[in-house]
Amino acid sequence: MNEYLKHDEWCIIEEGFNPENHRSSESIFSLGNGNMGQRAMFEEHYSGETLQGTYVAGVYYPDKTRVGWWKNGYPEYFAKVLNAPNWIGIDVKINGEMLDLAKCEVSDFVRTLNMKEGVLERSFVATLANGNKVKVEAKRFLSIVTSEVGVIRYSVTPLNFDGKIGFTPYIDADVTNEDSNYDEQFWNVLQAKSMKGEAYITAATKKLDFHVCMSMKYDVLKDGQKVELNPALTEDAKYVANAVEVEVEQDEEISIYKYAAVLSSLNHSKTDIASDALSVVEAAKAKGYGALLEEHVNAWADKWDHSDIVIEGDIAAQQAIRFNIFQMNQTYTGEDERLNIGPKGFTGEKYGGSTYWDTEAYCVPFYLSTSKPEVTRNLLIYRHKQLQKAIENAEKLGFTNGAALYPMVTMNGEECHNEWEITFEEIHRNGAIAFAIYNYIRHTGDKKYLEEYGLDVLIGISRFWAQRVSYSQAKKKYVMLGVTGPNEYENNINNNWYTSTIATWCMKYSQEAMAHVKETNPARFEEIMKNLNFDFENETAKWSDIVENMYYPVDEETGVYLQQDGYMDKEQILASELDPAIRPINQHWSWDRILRSCFIKQADVLQGIYLFEDQYDMETIRKNYDFYEPRTVHESSLSPCIHSILAAKIGDEERAYNLYLRTSRLDLDDYNKEVHEGLHITSMAGTWMSIVEGFGGMRVVNGSLVFNPMLPKVWKSYSFKVRFRGNLLNVRVSEDGVGVINEEGETINIFVKDDEYKVEKESSLVVEHA
Ligand code: BGC
Repeated sequence: MNEYLKHDEWCIIEEGFNPENHRSSESIFSLGNGNMGQRAMFEEHYSGETLQGTYVAGVYYPDKTRVGWWKNGYPEYFAKVLNAPNWIGIDVKINGEMLDLAKCEVSDFVRTLNMKEGVLERSFVATLANGNKVKVEAKRFLSIVTSEVGVIRYSVTPLNFDGKIGFTPYIDADVTNEDSNYDEQFWNVLQAKSMKGEAYITAATKKLDFHVCMSMKYDVLKDGQKVELNPALTEDAKYVANAVEVEVEQDEEISIYKYAAVLSSLNHSKTDIASDALSVVEAAKAKGYGALLEEHVNAWADKWDHSDIVIEGDIAAQQAIRFNIFQMNQTYTGEDERLNIGPKGFTGEKYGGSTYWDTEAYCVPFYLSTSKPEVTRNLLIYRHKQLQKAIENAEKLGFTNGAALYPMVTMNGEECHNEWEITFEEIHRNGAIAFAIYNYIRHTGDKKYLEEYGLDVLIGISRFWAQRVSYSQAKKKYVMLGVTGPNEYENNINNNWYTSTIATWCMKYSQEAMAHVKETNPARFEEIMKNLNFDFENETAKWSDIVENMYYPVDEETGVYLQQDGYMDKEQILASELDPAIRPINQHWSWDRILRSCFIKQADVLQGIYLFEDQYDMETIRKNYDFYEPRTVHESSLSPCIHSILAAKIGDEERAYNLYLRTSRLDLDDYNKEVHEGLHITSMAGTWMSIVEGFGGMRVVNGSLVFNPMLPKVWKSYSFKVRFRGNLLNVRVSEDGVGVINEEGETINIFVKDDEYKVEKESSLVVEHA
């Protein structure tokens, strides 16, 4: 862990400059607006350790696969979110000397991420080698109103001299990806132009030909007055800049306002992109910094109004949940069905910015409750559009008859992960995609989704499972061989309980879905059957046979569901017995040792119990929880939230609370010592789940919302909002009881504990604790 950030309800604050933390801070203080994002690099030149990262949504690069030993079925490439040209750069010269925090004395350094307003701020005092001392204040934001615009205000005040301050605002396309497989640069610069007061660069990706244009304009103000400038222009092959210099007196503040537009060919024609970028930046500058900031802050206020969670009495927990919600909202807005949510969002290169099962298993519940249904629907349609590719992916592995295997990692529907144990074996991802359809319908009531898009996907997935199982003569049961469950610390295992459980659930649910469409829209049902060439009788009979005769490993002695056939053969040690110095084990042990150990990377059996909780009694849940939690090292960010929810379910408040802190402060306190690589965006949705589903005990049961709340001892109260079928409910749990305000929508019936209550339109309900 590394706890260097100050606790505050609305801000993330770093006081004092420690270069060793800079890469981590670059991740933590990242900005995004759904359309683009960037790490919190400095505007001015910095020669110290940094990971430059500017990302544009939907723009990626298929980097040719690099593996030691090629295996048939491997994908040709690994898609990568691209480090795009850097538009935030402003070199600063003080009497001719470059300001560089790695080379001067820095004091009073404060970096603040103001989450309420969506603004990154920084201030410090620097004493340069030439003895000049300056105070610097920088503020920047990526507009969530005009999502192609980013703005910076950067000001310098000389503290002990009169002299010259130079600003060189620039755009730099000479950028690389740290994770490039062949150390190549991914961009060709098509145009690089620098004019008086403005500049732009248009670049195209070397493969797939995505075009991106970044343009900039700026003003320099002294004492609030615009300064007339005569900039020196630089127009290199990959770099454009304007350099200006202004005379200032001691204590006089000089500021540069830099406006930038970031456009991509996803939304603009390639021929017009440069002129469009100049118009967008011109309009931004004409509107001005103050007006852009004001509308941005108002839009954030609106977002917070719908998605905030307020915790009274625990500032660390409050800051953490806001950080998680803030990052979710920065990453994905749900407006564009071509986009999805990479595990690192716009905060780093790891995981390539691609789509994982994380979206369906973790992000969907968050968006279902905090956004309009269209947002989740867009996420589901994204997979529907990739169904054909999932079928082709399964065909590459030898499956037939429309069986669909969705990729573990993808940008456009094609698999681009290339470790056999994950690509070929971590097939449980298919189940999460089916479950998300069920979850969406359960939450929104939009059953029509099945006939429109859902059924095709469910059938493709179930066809895959039906071919993936095999019949064991020895067991007289169906078995699932050679898989990797969610716990990636075991590979090529047989009968992973979670995978088998979700597979049979898919086959059951697909049949229910078919029955529904057949009954409500027989013509459409026939059409789907015909399109898919579905042999109703034989295929569904096979599915039912598998559902009835599937083998699930169980430990005879304890009755615990076994993660896989051989799990009990492993030496049973608890995570608490491990020396803290060798945690996380993935940074200290060989892979061989990890695979043979009993340590579990992330929720596996418990992931299944979480999803299908209604099928297990409390004793079964407790027994499995008590067995697996002590063996789980939570070295995937996706893990502690699920354990926290189950701990709350069984009434283990202490573990629920500690796991909540672990999930919510994972990046802020760097539990897994990897935040320098980027943030764990997708698991942030899980943090939200651990409050709403964990402490709040929210479930959807038979079409109604049910709350079974508990209040962690250290909290005075907490409140959250939930969208549910046309209603917006504000739920507050305090020492006195549970309050529910029906903020939007008609009268609704809900359950608190076992009792049903009516919450009238625009009114509230208070249920006192028994
Ligand atoms: C986890 C996977 C997850 C991926 C991306 C891995 O460490 O084990 O379950 O999909 O990270 O978040």
